[in-house]
Amino acid sequence: MGAGLLANGAVVRAEERGRLGAGDTAILRFLAAAELIEADLWTQYAELGGIGNNLPVEVNPNQQMNPYQAALSNLDTDGPQYITSNTLDEVSHANFINAYLESRGAEPVNFSEFETLKGSTATGSSGKLRLTNLMNLNVDTSWFVRYRSATNPDLGATFPQAITLNGVTAIPRTDADFNGASNANLGKANDHIQAIANVAAFHFGAIEQGGSSLYATMSQKVSDPEVLQITLGIGGDEIAHFLEWVDFAGNGVQQPVAPFKDAISGLSFPDFFNNPPLQPPTLVQPSLIFPVPCEFISPNLPHVSIIRPLTDKFSGAVASAASLIASGLFTGQSRKFLNTLQIMAFEADAAIRLAL
Ligand SMILES: [Fe+2]
Ligand SMILES: [Fe+2]
Repeated sequence: MGAGLLANGAVVRAEERGRLGAGDTAILRFLAAAELIEADLWTQYAELGGIGNNLPVEVNPNQQMNPYQAALSNLDTDGPQYITSNTLDEVSHANFINAYLESRGAEPVNFSEFETLKGSTATGSSGKLRLTNLMNLNVDTSWFVRYRSATNPDLGATFPQAITLNGVTAIPRTDADFNGASNANLGKANDHIQAIANVAAFHFGAIEQGGSSLYATMSQKVSDPEVLQITLGIGGDEIAHFLEWVDFAGNGVQQPVAPFKDAISGLSFPDFFNNPPLQPPTLVQPSLIFPVPCEFISPNLPHVSIIRPLTDKFSGAVASAASLIASGLFTGQSRKFLNTLQIMAFEADAAIRLAL
């Protein structure tokens, strides 16, 4: 039996509680893959913009943060702490799901052979090879509009971009990216690094809304109650992350940070309160941070505040993998990696709920 290859303790546990079914295994393996991807990208954010050795800004406003940390602190004075915390959470998600798979006699996911991408060389980066690329992103910002809209993608609604962010970096690539035109509103940051931090803010939201919908969609296919406990438990943490980044991104498109323009990248961030890019203005109102009630299940039912999308078509594993790929997150990755991820996604979506 393949189980003989696993550590003794894992074999015993798998025999006691039974092996995972094929569908639940495929779901958890895709989720482990998604968590390894999240852990890799968040680690890059944490190395450059996390709290590091710094105290929170409100404890020591005079410390030497790098300009990226300063720019992130402009979006929330606790921003660097939140970035470090989100990173620790993702690492814990990946480690837990992999260990759980093993404990139920299933194979964990290991992507170390795909950690081949050179990351940032800016001061603070560990320089290790990465699974993901944060330096050439097409950030889908439609989530910012979707969650302020009363319509639902699962019922056919589509949403424009809140702001166009194509081919952009979300982290300082080299130390040169720490420098830019000074701006009295941005304190120790500057227009260039603030634009990079604002890209990151919209990317944080894009990643975590995707995780929120992915877990809620996968939960509908799970068979084993213990696996459902895992998908609901970890999925809830993804939603907790998402909420902070909704607020965070909104702070990049209102005073005192916005409006500003970075002459180096050409990116502009308007003040969404006073110069909303969409009508009605509520579609981009930065202070609407909770999911606005929308149609759900049927247009004949009352509007309700929910996570959305919740269907395979938009937030299943295949859809999630496709949107990560389209975002440029794997620019430079091998065809083998993309194929591996897509096959895992296909297998997860093929799972159906069984009565155990
Ligand atoms: Fe996660
Ligand atoms: Fe997450």
